[in-house]
Amino acid sequence: MEGWEEIPAEVRKRHTELAAEIEEHRARYYEQDAPTVSDAEFDRLMRELEALEAEHPALVTPESPSQKVGGAAVEGFTKVEHRERLLSLDNAMNEEELAAWAERVATELSGVEYHYLCELKVDGLAVNLTYVRGELVQAATRGDGRVGEDITANVRTIEEIPHRLQGENIPELVEIRGEVYFPTEAFEELNASFAAENERRRAANEQRAAEGRRPLALVKLFANPRNAAAGSLRQKDPLVTASRPLHMVVHGIGAREGFDIDCQSHAYELLRGWGLPTARHNRVVSTLDEVRAFIRTYGEQRHSVEHEIDGVVVKVDEIALQGRLGATSKSPRWAIAWKYPPEEVTARLASIKVGIGRTGRATPYAVLAEPVKVAGSMVQYATLHNQDVVKAKGVLLGDTIVLRKAGDVIPEILGPIEDLRDGTEQEFVMPSHCHECGTELRPMAEGDIDLRCPNAQFCPAQVRERIAYLGGRESLDIDGLGYVAATALTQPLEPTDAPVKNEGDIFGLSEEQLLPIRVLVRDQKTGMPKLDDRTGTEKEVFFFATTKGDPKKSLGLLLENLDKAKDRPLWRYLNGLSIRHVGPVAAQALAREFRDLDRIFAADEEELAAVEGVGPTIARAIREWHAEEWHREVLEKWRAAGVQFTEAGAEEAGERPLEGLTVVVTGTLAGHTRDGAKEALTSRGAKVTGSVSKKTHFVVVGDNPGSKYDKAVQLGVPVLDDAGFAVLLDRGADAARAHLGLDSVDSEAEPES
Ligand code: IVH
Repeated sequence: MEGWEEIPAEVRKRHTELAAEIEEHRARYYEQDAPTVSDAEFDRLMRELEALEAEHPALVTPESPSQKVGGAAVEGFTKVEHRERLLSLDNAMNEEELAAWAERVATELSGVEYHYLCELKVDGLAVNLTYVRGELVQAATRGDGRVGEDITANVRTIEEIPHRLQGENIPELVEIRGEVYFPTEAFEELNASFAAENERRRAANEQRAAEGRRPLALVKLFANPRNAAAGSLRQKDPLVTASRPLHMVVHGIGAREGFDIDCQSHAYELLRGWGLPTARHNRVVSTLDEVRAFIRTYGEQRHSVEHEIDGVVVKVDEIALQGRLGATSKSPRWAIAWKYPPEEVTARLASIKVGIGRTGRATPYAVLAEPVKVAGSMVQYATLHNQDVVKAKGVLLGDTIVLRKAGDVIPEILGPIEDLRDGTEQEFVMPSHCHECGTELRPMAEGDIDLRCPNAQFCPAQVRERIAYLGGRESLDIDGLGYVAATALTQPLEPTDAPVKNEGDIFGLSEEQLLPIRVLVRDQKTGMPKLDDRTGTEKEVFFFATTKGDPKKSLGLLLENLDKAKDRPLWRYLNGLSIRHVGPVAAQALAREFRDLDRIFAADEEELAAVEGVGPTIARAIREWHAEEWHREVLEKWRAAGVQFTEAGAEEAGERPLEGLTVVVTGTLAGHTRDGAKEALTSRGAKVTGSVSKKTHFVVVGDNPGSKYDKAVQLGVPVLDDAGFAVLLDRGADAARAHLGLDSVDSEAEPES
C-alpha cells in the first residue's frame, strides 16, 4: 500500500480540508441542532472524501470522518456506551447505485431465496431503548455510534413508548432502535405559535424601549421537524419534552437475549405485540422492481405521511442472511438507504425584487445568486409575500438562506443562516413606487399590509398579468394565450402599438394586428433577454408569426381559440375579470345563484353577500369594481364581440364539477357521515366506488382507514384527508391535486384576501 508520505501533497491537503469541514458540519448538525449546509451538500463532501480514501487507503485513519457514525455525545447529558454499535446506512443516490447494491447482495446470496423489506427513512433522531425483563431501563441517543447521551427521563415522557412491555414471552434483554420524530403538522403549529409569541414580544419590546428597559429575547424557530425533535429531546427539563408531541417508529433491534427471530418483518410483529410503535408503511417484496415501485409511490406521496421522510430504507428481511452479508465498520451490507431529492437546500440571496400582480399587489420575491436544485427541480426565485414577511424571516441581501420546496409546491425561504454572515449583508428596502408605471404604492384600505399599485387601468404589469390570468386554466382556458402571449399583446417591441390595452380588446383581435408583433426572446430560467450569437444584440422574434416550434403559438390557433372562448360558463368570465377577492369558488356560487351577469351587477351588496360562499367583503369588491366606468366598458366590448354571459354552460359551472372522477371514501371523516360524503361527491357528478384501483382518481381517508388506504398508497392514488376533501368539493380536482402538492400552484391564481 502507498505510504502516507507518498500521497501527493495536494491530495493530503484536500483530505484534511474535507475532514475538517465535515467534522464541523457534523458537530453543528448533531450537537447543536443547527446545520449550516444541506444534507445534499454534506453527502457531496462525504463522497469526495471517500473517493480520495478509496484511491489512497493510507488516508483512512480512525480519526477520519468516514470511520465515524453521527456526532459525538454532547456535554451536559450522561454518556452511555452502547452494548452494540449503532450503525449508519450507505446511500443510493440514483438507480445505478441501487442496482449495484442489489447485485452485490445477489452475488453474495446466490442460490438462496431472500426478500426485501422496504421501509420509510424517517427524518428524525435515532434512539436506542434498553428493556431489561420488559422494563425500560435506559434510552440513549446514537452519539457517535459507540457512545451516546442518556435521555431516559425525556424519552419516558413520550406517550407511545411503553415503560413496560406487555404480553407474553418478554425477553431478558432487548435493545430497540428507532427514530423519534416530530409530526410535520404539529411542527408547523409549534413554529406558528413561536412566531405569534415573537409578534407579542416585538410589540412589548417597543414599549420596553420607550421605557428604557432591556428587550425580551425572541424565540428561535426550528428550521425543520428533525431539529424540533432533536431540540425537544435534548431538553434539560423533561417537562418541556413532555409538552411536545413526539412520536417514535421502530426500525431495528440491537442487543438481545432470550428470543430468536427469523425475519426483521416478523420481529416488528412481535414488537408491536409488546406495545412498541412499529411502522405501518413497511412492505416485504421479492423483486427489485417492487422495491422501485415502493420508492416511486412514496416519492409521490411523501407529504401524505405523518412525518418527514428523506428516503426509503431497503433491507434484506431474513436475519440469518443479514448475518451472512455482514457490515463494514460503518454500515451493514444488508441494507441501503435510497435518498429522495432534498427538499431543503442552502443558497445565496442575491437580491429581492418586487413583482406587481394582477390586482396590483406588490410582492417582493427573492432572487438567488444562481439556480439551485430542490425537490428535484431548479429554482431561482421564491416569493416573500410582502415587506412584513421579509422582516419576519429576517433575511438580508447577500445572506445564505435555507430554501424549501415540498413536492411541487411553491418554493419557500425558511430563513437566513446567521452564523454565515460576514457583515456585508444589507437590509431590503421596499420600493415606494411601482417600477413598471411609476405610481406610488400604497395600502388600498386601512390596516392592509400589502402595498398595491393603484393604477389598475394603465399599469403595464397589471394589464399583462390580468390578460395572462384571463387566458389561464381557472378563467377562459384559452390555449395559446399564456404569459408570453399576454406580454406580446400588451407590451410588444416598438414601433408596434399594443393591440390589447386592457381585457376589453381581447375578443376583437385580427391577424393584421398580430403579425407584426415582435418580442424579446428570454431565458426561461432567468427571465434575462437572450443575445443573438452573431450580432451580440438582444434576440427578437415575430411572436405570432412563428410557424415552427410550439404550435400553440401559431396565430390561427389563437384566433380560433379566442372565438371558442366566447361561449364559456358564466363563472369563468366573472373569475377572469380579476375582481379583488373573487376567485373561482365565489364566481361559481354567484353564477349558480344569479345565472346572468347583468343580474349579478344589478344586485346590491346585501343581495350579493347573502349568497353562500360570498359574504360582505366580496360583495363590496364587486360593487366597487362595477362602479368604475372603464370596467363597464370592458363588459360592453365583450358583449359586442358576441359573449353571452348567461349560465348556458351550467353543467360545467359547478353543478357537476366532479364529472368523470372516480372516488373511494374510507374511514371516519370529521365533517361528514360516510353517506353524507358520498352524497356530496355524487351530487357533484363524481362516481363513488367501493374498491381502489389504478383508475381511482382520489381516495378520501378519515380516521382508522384500513386496507383501502394501504392500497391507495401502493398504487400511487392521491389520498385526501378532511382538509383535502373540502378542497375537492369546493374547488375541484385540480385544486385538490395542488393541495397535495401534485400540481403546480400559481400564487396569483388564488383569490387575494
Ligand atoms: S435501519 C443498521 N431503518 O437513518 C441499520 N434506519 O442514515 C440502521 N433511519 O442511523 C438503521 N429510518 O437513524 C433504519 N427505517 C429505517 C430508518 C433508519 C431512519 C435513520 C437511522 C440511521 C440513519 C442512517
